[in-house]
Amino acid sequence: MSTRIHTLHVNLAATARDRSYPIVIGQGLLADSALFTDFIGDRPVVLVSNETVAPLYADRVRMALGEARQVSEVILPDGEAFKNLETLNHIFTAALTDRHERRSVFIALGGGVVGDMTGFAAACYMRGADFLQLPTTLLAQVDSSVGGKTGVNHSAGKNMIGAFHQPLGVFIDVDTLHSLPEREFAAGVAEVIKYGCIYDTAFFHWLIEARTKLLARDQAVIAEAIERSCAIKAEVVAQDEREGGLRAILNFGHTFGHAIEHVQGYGAWLHGEAVAAGMVIAARISANRGWILPNEVATLEDFLTSFKLPVSAPSNMDAEVFLAAMSSDKKVSHGTIRYVLLSELGKASIVDDISQDEITIAVRG
Ligand SMILES: NC(=O)c1ccc[n+]([C@@H]2O[C@H](COP(=O)([O-])OP(=O)(O)OC[C@H]3O[C@@H](n4cnc5c(N)ncnc54)[C@H](O)[C@@H]3O)[C@@H](O)[C@H]2O)c1
Repeated sequence: MSTRIHTLHVNLAATARDRSYPIVIGQGLLADSALFTDFIGDRPVVLVSNETVAPLYADRVRMALGEARQVSEVILPDGEAFKNLETLNHIFTAALTDRHERRSVFIALGGGVVGDMTGFAAACYMRGADFLQLPTTLLAQVDSSVGGKTGVNHSAGKNMIGAFHQPLGVFIDVDTLHSLPEREFAAGVAEVIKYGCIYDTAFFHWLIEARTKLLARDQAVIAEAIERSCAIKAEVVAQDEREGGLRAILNFGHTFGHAIEHVQGYGAWLHGEAVAAGMVIAARISANRGWILPNEVATLEDFLTSFKLPVSAPSNMDAEVFLAAMSSDKKVSHGTIRYVLLSELGKASIVDDISQDEITIAVRG
């Protein structure tokens, strides 16, 4: 039995109405045959997952898709290290071998790595096939499955090869979080509080109040946190699908965070962990400029710490190391590093005039 708790809509610009889509949040959605039929009728499916998630959840999706339909399953190796063109080619080979046409629907069952790769495979397959997102990590549920950014890594950099390709729909089954390791859950929480910091003070305070329930993985509280996060992401993406301006505020904590991931070596810190430390650095700079209050930074740090998330930069990184790493980030525009600060709690501001001294002071804490 499935329960649909919330349905939101990502309403893209008027010219892109046909690419607007719903986000359904609930319990038991992966086993909900009617939901799949509503979205894709009897169309053939290329179901993509990985070796960790497939044994947990692929059966119920396969059953929900029904026996009458053609379903090809592609199981990828697990990990960011496999988010590359070579692994992507396995998806194409499987789809072509099974003679899928453009009307087939690609379905991503997994975290952000599977979602980004499946979306990109769909964007390229026969010049563009449809896809559905079934995100199974908190991070993918509140962030990567919504917004249409898809892609793979290249040895020259993370997410360097990709496309904007919006899914037909996103089904967020909160039951999948039961099996998610604590560290991965916490990494998703970092992205959740980010939305409060940049866009919604009431949501920030709600999360602070809800901390104990979140730590206990209370399903109703998690579903609400996901819904509010997706609503904010959907609102931002609706206004700026291709990151011409506003969408960049979603990178709060990410400029410093990407530098941490880059210097420590991908995989040493989870993305959400690097974002947590990055948000604290950006929040400290904002406070040192007098834009937010020191106790607001302290509240953020305290919240992150209760999820065992890092709140300071690794000891091998000073301002110089940060600046060198950030200069090679793909978000650098015309050689200028763009940072997201908080002009007040709940409101982000994009700046490019942060001095090395400001970074030094914030990194030292
Ligand atoms: N497209 C976007 O807008 C966007 C935004 C943010 C991040 N990303 C990308 O997302 C990726 C990170 O996503 P992620 O944090 O979900 O990592 P991930 O996909 O690597 O998943 C983390 C780990 O959890 C496992 N897992 C997934 N669901 C599980 C479950 N329910 N139970 C048990 N284990 C489970 C995975 O197999 C993996 O080992 C990065 O590649 C990043 O670049 C994309």
